[in-house]
Amino acid sequence: MPAATMDEVVALAKRRGLIFPASEIYGGIANTYDYGHYGVLLKRNVIDEWWRAMVFERDDIVALDSAIIQHPRTWEASGHLAGFTDPLVQCLGKCKRRFRLDHLQEEAEARGEDPAKVVCPVCGGELSEPRAFNLMFETTIGPVQEAGAAVYLRPETAQGIFLDFKQTLQYARKRPPFGIAQVGKSFRNEITPGNFIFRTLEFEQMEMEFFVPPDEAGKWYDYWRQERLDWYARLGISRERLRLREHTLEELSHYSSGTADVEYLYPIGWSELEGVANRGDFDLTQHAKFSGEKLEWKDPQTGKGYVPHVIEPAAGVGRTILALLCEAYDTDELGGEERTVLRLHPSVAPVKVAVLPLLRKAGHPEVAREVYESLRTRMSAEYDDGGAIGRRYRRQDEIGTPYAVTIDHQTIEDRTVTLRDRDSLTQERVPIAELADELGRRVTNRTPA
Ligand code: GAP
Repeated sequence: MPAATMDEVVALAKRRGLIFPASEIYGGIANTYDYGHYGVLLKRNVIDEWWRAMVFERDDIVALDSAIIQHPRTWEASGHLAGFTDPLVQCLGKCKRRFRLDHLQEEAEARGEDPAKVVCPVCGGELSEPRAFNLMFETTIGPVQEAGAAVYLRPETAQGIFLDFKQTLQYARKRPPFGIAQVGKSFRNEITPGNFIFRTLEFEQMEMEFFVPPDEAGKWYDYWRQERLDWYARLGISRERLRLREHTLEELSHYSSGTADVEYLYPIGWSELEGVANRGDFDLTQHAKFSGEKLEWKDPQTGKGYVPHVIEPAAGVGRTILALLCEAYDTDELGGEERTVLRLHPSVAPVKVAVLPLLRKAGHPEVAREVYESLRTRMSAEYDDGGAIGRRYRRQDEIGTPYAVTIDHQTIEDRTVTLRDRDSLTQERVPIAELADELGRRVTNRTPA
């Protein structure tokens, strides 16, 4: 069963300023969202966890930050200009809306209906013949549109990595197997409604191209599928709502000889979180052909060279965040009232600890401030002295803060505070002198699931 409904997650994300529709004062803009303070912190934590797993805990992957607008030949070579299309149909009936034919057909099949006989899902009208619609956003370099050069906002971060393969090989002193990792925005002119942040026009990707000797491609493909699945489990996603699904031959992209999706059981059903693809030597060979540069690895001892094969784990930041929110959303009862709580893993929680003084009496705010200052240099902390303590707890529970520290009478007497655990609701007394170390241990404890 999905952990929460999409409506519950969307409402909480907006109420607490995590994620909300963009350009809302103008009525919003299709499939586009903004991240507020807590959303920014959550997103940063997800990306940090990815860098940690991909680069900082390994010796065989280096980082890259390539440009969003690349030379237009890039997309000719990659096949995006000719083939990065969706089959678009338009309703010929009353509503005139546009849909992706493949999505309508999948939905019809799931309902046990004939996919060849789909009609408009809104007004029941007849649909037009499908038309190939390219998903890349086109723009122009230069002041005059007609005279300028047409360029594209990248639809994936991967191609920048292939373009910089030779450069990276030269300065990073790596030999296959090695990887290049990149996080950044990509853009796709998606035409279907997106299910909150599942499908958006602009989105952040976390992609890594792993260059391997051709005869090791199968081994590394298996390795990265498992590695990526395990990463989501370590972020706190339950294994029952995670699975690997191998693509059928018809589903495979033009460059891929094998792709497996890491899927999550979202409220909309099992859907792709991340794709792990065996891209073979397609990309390096194509860019070598189009650019005239030799893109291969040469053994300095033997002088023999080869074009490495590529295994690519390609993840989406937004889809990871959506899975984390759906997974963490929970309700229970506390003091006779319903409580909404985000049971986020401490490593991704936007705020790790809230410092909540119980009393405004002389001495109390000062100690509370001192505790807060000692914690905020070590982890994301928040000071909150506004309103009844119950309401302050509720606010922190709803943004997933795993720990809360209260300052009370006893604190003034013996310099201990109460440490409340969001999930077990236990309250322990901890000396202020030991608090930062104790919390540091709990927050960074990453027991593999
Ligand atoms: N370089 C390979 C590639 O881009 P992809 O499966 O098209 O493969 C990889 O994209 C990941 O990027 C997806 O698994 C998903 O998490 C994310 N993604 C793709 N399109 C998206 C969109 N329109 N909105 C949000 N995330 C998207």
